[in-house]
Amino acid sequence: MDGALEEEIKRLTALGLHRRCAEGALEQVAARTLEINRLKKARKAVICAHVYQTPDIILGVGDLVGDSYKLADDCRKTQAEVIIFCGVHFMAETAKILNPSKKVYVPSKNAGCSLSEAITGEDVRKLKAEHPGLPVVTYINTSAEVKAESDCIVTSANAEKILRKMYEGHEKVIFVPDRFMGANLAKALGKTPGKDIILWKGTCIVHEHFNPELIKVYRQRYPGLSVLAHAECPSELIAAVDFMGGTGDMMRYVESTNAAAYLLVTECGFGELAKLKFPQKNFIAMCRLCPYMKSITLDSVLALLKDPHPEEVTVPAAIAARAKRSIDKMFELAA
Ligand code: 13P
Ligand code: SF4
Repeated sequence: MDGALEEEIKRLTALGLHRRCAEGALEQVAARTLEINRLKKARKAVICAHVYQTPDIILGVGDLVGDSYKLADDCRKTQAEVIIFCGVHFMAETAKILNPSKKVYVPSKNAGCSLSEAITGEDVRKLKAEHPGLPVVTYINTSAEVKAESDCIVTSANAEKILRKMYEGHEKVIFVPDRFMGANLAKALGKTPGKDIILWKGTCIVHEHFNPELIKVYRQRYPGLSVLAHAECPSELIAAVDFMGGTGDMMRYVESTNAAAYLLVTECGFGELAKLKFPQKNFIAMCRLCPYMKSITLDSVLALLKDPHPEEVTVPAAIAARAKRSIDKMFELAA
C-alpha cells in the first residue's frame, strides 16, 4: 500500500469513518477520497456537503458543510473558482445565483427535491393575483423561477424569525411550498393556518411519513429521551416532540444538551453524522433516506471531477437577477 493511502486511512479512521465500513472497505473509501481531494485542488474547486449526505462525503471530501442556510452563506464568500455541490439541485442553483461567474456542478442528475418540484413560477404568479398585496415568503427548497417571483426566501434556520418580521407589516402572508412547515411556523407564531397564512400543497417525501404514534412507544422504551424533528414534519408529529427546527438547530441542540438519548426524526444522514460528532451520546434511529440526496456518492463526485461538463448548473440571467433579490432579502432579515 502506498504511503499516501496509508495516511488517508489514518485520517479517515481519526474521523471515525472506520466505524461505518465493513472489513476492508475503508481502504476503498480512502482511495476515492484521496483522489477526489487531489483533483479538487487541481481544479481550484470547493466541495459543499449538506448534512444529509453520507459521512464519507461530508467528512472525507467536504470543505463547506452544514444546513441550507450555512451552505448558501458560505458559497457567497468562497474564493474557489468551481463549486461542487453535494446536496440537491435547488441548493446548487442558489450557489450559482450568488456566484454567477463561478462554475457550479451537482454530481448527480437525480438530485431533485419533492418540495422544489411541487410549485412553479406560474403557480406563484397565480397566488399573487388571487391575494394582491400579500408578501410571498418562499422556502429555499424551490427553483430559481419560483424564487424570482418571491419577496423573501427563508430556510429552516431563519423562517420563524423572518416570518415574524413579515407579520410586523402585514396581517397575512403567502408561504410556499411546504404546507407542513408553513402551518408549524404559523402555530409557533400564534397565527392560524388558513386564516393568517396562505399555504401551498407541497410536502417533503421524507418528513411527511413519520408516525407520531411511534414517538410514544420510544418514550416508554427510553426514559429521558429527547425527541427532535425537522420543521418539514406534519403538525401532529411536531406536537409530540421536544424540539422543532432545521438541521443546524437540531445539531446545536444535541451539542448543548445532555439527554439520556436522542430520537432524531429526519433524514438518516443527519443521525449518522451526529453519531460520529458525538460518539459519547446515545442516538435512537427513526429516520428515512432522501433518495435525491442519496443519489450522490463518492463515485459520482469522482466521475464529475474527471468530466464535469454534463452536470453544470445554469440559471438564465434575468431569472437569476430577480431570484437574487429575494435571496439577498433573506440574508438581510436573517442577520
Ligand atoms: P436544512 O436547511 O434544515 O438543512 O433543510 C434542508 C432540507 O432539505 C431538509 O429536508
Ligand atoms: Fe427535499 Fe425532503 Fe429530500 Fe430535503 S429531505 S431534499 S426537502 S425531498
